[in-house]
Amino acid sequence: MFLKSPTANKSKYCMQKYQSTTPDWLYHTPALDADALPAIQKELLKVIIHSKESMMVPYTSTFFCYGQTDEDRQKIWETCPTLKQELSRLKLLDIFYFIGFVSVDASKEFPPHIDTLDVGLNIPLYNCNNTYTVWYDAKVLDQPMPNYVIGSELTGAARIVDKKNAVEIGRVEATRPLWINGNVAHRPETHHDKLRMAASIRFCPEPVDENGNLWPHLIK
Ligand SMILES: [Fe+2]
Repeated sequence: MFLKSPTANKSKYCMQKYQSTTPDWLYHTPALDADALPAIQKELLKVIIHSKESMMVPYTSTFFCYGQTDEDRQKIWETCPTLKQELSRLKLLDIFYFIGFVSVDASKEFPPHIDTLDVGLNIPLYNCNNTYTVWYDAKVLDQPMPNYVIGSELTGAARIVDKKNAVEIGRVEATRPLWINGNVAHRPETHHDKLRMAASIRFCPEPVDENGNLWPHLIK
């Protein structure tokens, strides 16, 4: 089942919220300029190559964060002028926190988890056709992700969920930019055997109101 209509986006199922600020919605279409997207994707692929040199994490099913230091952030804005311009237009530049790069290798499971940050701005980069972000109603366990997923320290804060009782509550094809709810159990699911890469831009403080709703100008 593919949830495409705005009403379907709001799950009718029970959602285990990780914290009180966890949004009620699963995903939204961001108000990014569609014409700028190809340039932003090219820029982010360049950042992966830069950051790979310093991070030394394998390309497997891994989440690694880049951009927390001033030096790394400077590199990002040098490499990504179009992204910088779009984030500035959307009033997100001052609250930029880091870019998470999410790779999925079909032979290594990327388990359902919660992120501990409420929202991410996801941008597909490489082999995202026929891949999905899937959400579950599931019990959060006090256990970290498997070691191969933890590409940087912040990823260590994510928590896996009890897969035995996890019930899918929604999914969206990850072929276009999406705001995603990161604090309801979710995972990237691939239906091919190629390495898949996406970026997930994170913000602090997060661009949501006290009810977990994104600032209205951020969604289409
Ligand atoms: Fe996540």
